Amino acid sequence: MHIVNTISELRGAVKAWRSAGQSVALVPTMGNLHAGHLALVNEAKKKADRVVVSIFVNPTQFGVGEDFETYPRTEHEDQQKLNAVGADLLFQPAVSEVYAPDAKTTVSVTGLSEWYCGAFRPGHFDGVATVVCKLFNMVQPDTALFGLKDFQQLTVIRTMVRDLNIPVEIVGVETVREASGLAMSSRNGYLTAEEKTVAAKLYQALCAARDAVLAGQSYQEIERTALQFLQESGFTPDYFSVCRASDLTKAGEDDKELVLLTAARLNKTRLIDNVCFSR
Ligand code: PAJ
Repeated sequence: MHIVNTISELRGAVKAWRSAGQSVALVPTMGNLHAGHLALVNEAKKKADRVVVSIFVNPTQFGVGEDFETYPRTEHEDQQKLNAVGADLLFQPAVSEVYAPDAKTTVSVTGLSEWYCGAFRPGHFDGVATVVCKLFNMVQPDTALFGLKDFQQLTVIRTMVRDLNIPVEIVGVETVREASGLAMSSRNGYLTAEEKTVAAKLYQALCAARDAVLAGQSYQEIERTALQFLQESGFTPDYFSVCRASDLTKAGEDDKELVLLTAARLNKTRLIDNVCFSR
């Protein structure tokens, strides 16, 4: 696997592939790679001749008091994992390579970015949309892959690509979970063994809520029950919402494609998860 730190080296490599008629997929990450990230790489290999993975802990998507400084950075292990899975190129830029010190342009997907996680992390999705737009311009991939685990992020990116006519096909990849049901996440490393057992209840709450939707219970009642269950299990829930999968507005009785979105704090760690289904 080729490893580059600059945009010009990245463009050189991609240009050579393009001249040979090869297609390119991009998997953007912040590193500390786990089986969820590697599932994206495996899916990317099916979609394109060449796979670029970016590792960049993006400062603009972290709020004041969040974990930008302490976010796990595991460069050596990440490179080994990407080598083993067969990525072609790792793009690992410094912050100064990505952002001009006097950068004045940001991408903002209005409305959607202020709901759910956006309400608890102001500016977060602007940081995500901006860096993903920049990565698309740097790599110019045919396809880019994102996890369904971060469902609101995926919806923000799909909306940005539609609204700005960015010529990249966006592919969503199923959430990879631990045997307990806990969605894999770089932030799970913050959890103690005891907290990990409790953390699995987030997915249990989602599955129970999905079953209740399918059984015809009222959405308000389902949300209330889930929030209460999470509180009793030891979480401080931020939200639990029954939404339309297409645009994340509140689901109505006639909507068929649904997603249950939730975020909850377990002591110092904030966990998010969701379940997407048809009724
Ligand atoms: P990061 O949290 O490193 O995640 C990178 C990608 O892996 C995202 O598309 C995320 O949805 C996906 N992912 C994480 N856990 C997953 C799991 N358990 N199963 C499947 N996919 C999973 O998300 C980001 O980084 C950043 O916001 C980024 C998009 C790179 C922009 O900075």
